[in-house]
Amino acid sequence: MLKIENLVKTYKDVKALDGLNLEVKPGQIYGFLGPNGAGKSTTILSTLGLIFPQEGRIQLFDVEVFKDGKFDEAKLVEVKKRIGYMPEHATLWDFLTPVQTLDIIADAFNIPKAEKEKRINELLNLVGLSDDRNRKVGKFSKGMRQRLLLAQALINDPELLILDEPMTGLDPTGIAEFKEIIREQKKAGKTVFFSSHILAHVEEICDTVGVIVKGKLRVEDNLESIKREFLRKAGYTILVETNVPVDWSPSGWNVTPLGEKRYRIAAEEDIREGVHDYVASQGAKILTMQVKEPSLEEIFLKMVE
Ligand SMILES: Nc1ncnc2c1ncn2[C@@H]1O[C@H](COP(=O)(O)OP(=O)(O)O)[C@@H](O)[C@H]1O
Ligand SMILES: [Mg+2]
Repeated sequence: MLKIENLVKTYKDVKALDGLNLEVKPGQIYGFLGPNGAGKSTTILSTLGLIFPQEGRIQLFDVEVFKDGKFDEAKLVEVKKRIGYMPEHATLWDFLTPVQTLDIIADAFNIPKAEKEKRINELLNLVGLSDDRNRKVGKFSKGMRQRLLLAQALINDPELLILDEPMTGLDPTGIAEFKEIIREQKKAGKTVFFSSHILAHVEEICDTVGVIVKGKLRVEDNLESIKREFLRKAGYTILVETNVPVDWSPSGWNVTPLGEKRYRIAAEEDIREGVHDYVASQGAKILTMQVKEPSLEEIFLKMVE
């Protein structure tokens, strides 16, 4: 559906994509995860021919649209009719209503007049904007804008949906509703490729997650496997508070004192039981013990190393 090979994009002195490879298969919901500045938007903009990469290959629907440093414009125009795109920083016309906005986009896709009204109604219903259909977009919240942007991306009933950070700025309810809409697209046989810098956004809905760090895809797998791998790499942090100071040197663990009787232990696995026994063997007692799983930020940092 979408295949990217060895893509390189340099902006002046910034290498935004450093030989990126990824493949989105038909019917998948693919989560494209990476920290800010990793190259997600650059990948998406390249895929759509909106910026010019220098090297690599891009195929859409098995059509080669980019090769040898240039786009095949004719092929690109054809395949883009089958794609819906939601940009990261979109400008909506503040003085128009959702109906008027979608009407203009529908005309851009040459959707016949007879179908247009029905399609617009369906989409407003789908994204939950029916009641706001005649209000000016300028007064909309971030979440409402995101919904309208999704509706415009769906206007041509695309086979492939490409969404750049679609859930950023949404509240938990908004995120849950957004995920539901994406699931419905999958049920309708569509393929969805969306980016995010937040792990929770790709949870529960993605078949495949690709993690991009510094312009390279580090892993491409299902989320469960990736998380397991993450945890193995990033390790565990155990915070312990004891009733009296403890000498940790014989334990062999990597312990950092945080205070007189508070310590941080870095471990590759969950060693809570061992810590418990060790403290007891030192004639001390544990007052509190906490295990901290790494945050996504820490995981990304580990991956960069
Ligand atoms: N138009 C541009 N000019 C110069 N550098 C850019 C431009 N767009 C993006 N970059 C740089 O390219 C890198 C990747 O950016 P981007 O693709 O926007 O990342 P992401 O979407 O993952 O946050 C960053 O270092 C960013 O600062
Ligand atoms: Mg971006």
